[in-house]
Amino acid sequence: MNNFAGRRKSSLAGAGAGAGAEAFGGKHAMTTSLRKGGRLPVYVAGVFFVLCVIVMYGEDIRSLTRVPAPTVTDASDGRQKVVVVPRRDISSSEKPAAVLHRNELEKPKHAAVLHHSEQEKPKRAAVLHRSEQEKPKNVVTTTTTEPAPVVEKAATKSKTKKPGSKKPKKPRRQRAAKKTVVPPALGVPESCDLAKGRWVFDNTSYPLYREEECQFLTSQVTCMKNGRRDDTYQKWRWQPKGCNMPRFDAKLFMERLRGKRFMFVGDSLNRNQWESMVCLLQSAVSPGKKYVSWEGQSIVFHAWEFNATVEFYWAPFLVESNSDDPKIHSIQDRIIKADTIAAHAENWRGVDYLVFNTYIWWMNTLNMKVVRPGGQSWEEHDEVVRIEAYRKVLTTWANWVNENVDPARTSVFFMSMSPLHISPQVWGNPDGIRCAKETMPLLDWHGPLWLGMDWDMFHEANNVSRAASPRVPITFVDITTMSERRKDGHTSVHTIRQGKVLGPEEQADPGTYADCIHWCLPGVPDIWNLVLYTRILSRPAVQFG
Ligand SMILES: *[C@@H]1O[C@H](CO)[C@@H](O)[C@H](O)[C@H]1NC(C)=O
Ligand SMILES: *[C@@H]1O[C@H](CO)[C@@H](O)[C@H](O)[C@H]1NC(C)=O
Ligand SMILES: *[C@@H]1O[C@H](CO)[C@@H](O)[C@H](O)[C@H]1NC(C)=O
Repeated sequence: MNNFAGRRKSSLAGAGAGAGAEAFGGKHAMTTSLRKGGRLPVYVAGVFFVLCVIVMYGEDIRSLTRVPAPTVTDASDGRQKVVVVPRRDISSSEKPAAVLHRNELEKPKHAAVLHHSEQEKPKRAAVLHRSEQEKPKNVVTTTTTEPAPVVEKAATKSKTKKPGSKKPKKPRRQRAAKKTVVPPALGVPESCDLAKGRWVFDNTSYPLYREEECQFLTSQVTCMKNGRRDDTYQKWRWQPKGCNMPRFDAKLFMERLRGKRFMFVGDSLNRNQWESMVCLLQSAVSPGKKYVSWEGQSIVFHAWEFNATVEFYWAPFLVESNSDDPKIHSIQDRIIKADTIAAHAENWRGVDYLVFNTYIWWMNTLNMKVVRPGGQSWEEHDEVVRIEAYRKVLTTWANWVNENVDPARTSVFFMSMSPLHISPQVWGNPDGIRCAKETMPLLDWHGPLWLGMDWDMFHEANNVSRAASPRVPITFVDITTMSERRKDGHTSVHTIRQGKVLGPEEQADPGTYADCIHWCLPGVPDIWNLVLYTRILSRPAVQFG
């Protein structure tokens, strides 16, 4: 799939040409007419002016073509910036916004947050960069009379793919940026199993951030704000058996992510983890240089000053399914296309860190409805035993990774299943109601805990991660074992339902309303991210630029 880099370039060229033609052509016309009057110095001055404009604004323009966003007046320089809206939007449920002036931006229903003030929040309007890069016919509009975008000359983030060849000898295209290998910042050995260990009360280092200090948390996970009284669940450190976890250093990690894209792909638990990651990192990004945008199946945290993004992409089965709408997906009759992944996977190309998961959506039924090979509609499906369907899907996924990911550039992770805590009798609390009222982890529990999880799926995912993608290493991350003990960590009744925080009556009825799937933040997913952090920073990395 080496055409990706080329396609990206040409699409940028397309976007640039379309938008730039007017301003640039206009200037050209002006200079020629002046030259007709025999005034060469003016021509030279004109060219000089254009060059100056490119030099002055080139960086802005470049970042905008790469990370388009409903950016409003930047606090630092007071200039207005450009919004790039891809054509694709027309087919989505959103109205195809042309230009979003700051005052037109409405407060989003979701808690996406811009730094400045309430009315500057994007109306889920920011734009996926991938889609922008791939659609040559973008509509590009400027909010001011500033020079229009200029074609990116040499993509510093070029995403050359060479599947099948183990060592790309030379980048095919001339790359402005040079490649440097960054040595590992941490020394935690791969051989240390971070999954085995115990929870240790630590109220001096934890929580790693404060609920009220992370503006990016959604009300699904802000348990204290939603009425939870005990906060001990925030204060547990994970102590692996064979080594120590490092402290989370947001600055160090942001430096590693400079110029990079980090993406979680999967279901709402991966979104839970994405929120955690954003909150862990955001303190290292200056105020006014970060915001979250929502577009289609993606939520993107932009760390503007690092040219970095931390993204979430909704694909609850990884492959295509009838539940792929990020808003309308509470479908009882879930149907998947076990070998169709391309439409999703197009959005994963060129990402530097890919973190996948898929589990909870499989647990509704014993069999999975899978569209038959050659089936034309969702109706044409077979019922397949869950584990068989899971194996098929993971194989489809691993094949895609193997054939499309550049292992020199991209690290791939698969998060194991996040456990549910709905049966308190299992952990010896016959008076419990689901996970409500649980305020402590299981500290002295030895042996297995029967929480109703499908461990076959765990082993299947582990095996596929290890074996099905020989060219591209996939790191299987066991979060299940540590999280099993954390019956205290779920959002329970301190969460939202259909967009609204549970009211007193609902909170009084945990048997019906307690969510024992998702996790409060700060909380358990911070530790999952600490595991990713540990693995990533204990390995050397390639930096382009
Ligand atoms: C930490 O916990 C201990 C024991 O519960 C308590 O005595 C101490 O005051 C706590 N410290 C902080 C900073 O909360
Ligand atoms: C990132 O973008 C900023 C401005 O947007 C620029 O100053 C900086 O040089 C860029 N850094 C890299 C590595 O591209
Ligand atoms: C995973 O692989 C191991 C060793 O190769 C094998 O014993 C086991 O049965 C496999 N498990 C599954 C679920 O495929």
